[in-house]
Amino acid sequence: MSVHSRRHLISIEDLDRAGIERILDRAQGFAEVSGREIKKVPALRGRTIVNLFYEASTRTSSSFELAAKRLSADVVSIRAAGSSVDKGESLKDTVQTLSAYDPAAIVIRSPHAGAAQLVAGWTPASVINAGDGKHEHPTQALLDVFTLRRRLGGLDGASIWIVGDVLHSRVARSGILAFKRMGAQVTVCGPPTLIPRGIEALGCTSTASIEGLHEADVVYVLRMQHERMRECFVPSLREYATRYQVSAARLRPGQLLMHPGPVNRGVELSSDAIDSPQALIGEQVKAGVAVRMAVLYELLAGAPALAAVA
Ligand code: NCD
Repeated sequence: MSVHSRRHLISIEDLDRAGIERILDRAQGFAEVSGREIKKVPALRGRTIVNLFYEASTRTSSSFELAAKRLSADVVSIRAAGSSVDKGESLKDTVQTLSAYDPAAIVIRSPHAGAAQLVAGWTPASVINAGDGKHEHPTQALLDVFTLRRRLGGLDGASIWIVGDVLHSRVARSGILAFKRMGAQVTVCGPPTLIPRGIEALGCTSTASIEGLHEADVVYVLRMQHERMRECFVPSLREYATRYQVSAARLRPGQLLMHPGPVNRGVELSSDAIDSPQALIGEQVKAGVAVRMAVLYELLAGAPALAAVA
C-alpha cells in the first residue's frame, strides 16, 4: 500500500484500536511542538489544505486551520456565508472548483449526514469529516480520547456516561465508537425523546435516569442542539435543566467532566460545573490542534493507519 494512495477520515469505523493509538501517539509529539515558542514543523510544506465549512464552527475550524499552518501547509478556509455557496453553487461544483488547486486534503463540515463521503467521490484529495449532520465527527472523538488517555493513562474498563441530546449528536456517535474501541464502557443518558432508538447496537447501554451517574468515571455532557430540532423534544429547557443539568453538586469527587463545546451555560451544564477543576473542557480544545495535526500528518505523510481508497 503506497503512502501516496488516497486516504480519508470519514468515520471512526475507518480506524481500529491500533490506528487510533498511532494517531494519539503522534499527537503527543505535536502537542510538544505546540508548547514551543516557534510552533511549526515543515512536515507538510508545499501541500495545500482546503477547509470548507458549511455550518457554524469556532473550535473545529480554528484548530484545523492552526493544525495545517503548524505543519507548514498552505491553507484556504472557506465559509458558506460569503462564498459562492450563497450564490447557489452546489456542494459538488464547489468541491470540483476547489479541486482545481490540487489540494492534498479537503476538510468538510456540513449539515448533511453523508456529505463527507460524497465529497470523497468528487475530488482526488484526501477528505476529512469535520462533522456531517447528525452522523459523525471523528476528530472530536479522537481529541476526546487523547484528553482522557492523558488523564487516566488509558480507557480500558473506564465508565463513560454521555448525557443529553444524543439524538442530534454526531459527537456522541463518534465518541461511543471510539471509547468502545479503546476499551471503555459507555452509557448514554437523557430523556427518551433524545435517545435514538437502537443506539445500543453501537455497544452502549442507555438510561433515562441520571440517578446512577455517580458510577461514571467520566461525565461527557452534550449540547442541546436547537438548530437540528424541528419538533418539540423536551417540554421546556427549564424542565430539561431541572432533570438533567450537570452541576458541581451532581459530580462526585474524582469524576472528570467533558463537553465538546459550545456550552449552553445554565442548560446542560451549570456555571459551577463548567468552572470546576474537574472540567476538562479547556484541555479538549487544546488537544484539538495536536490531534488534527496528527490526523493531517497520518493521511498526507504517514504510513497507512487509515483505510486506503484505491
Ligand atoms: C460539536 C459539533 O459541532 O458537532 N462542536 C464541536 O465540534 N466542538 C458539538 C456541538 O455543536 O454541540
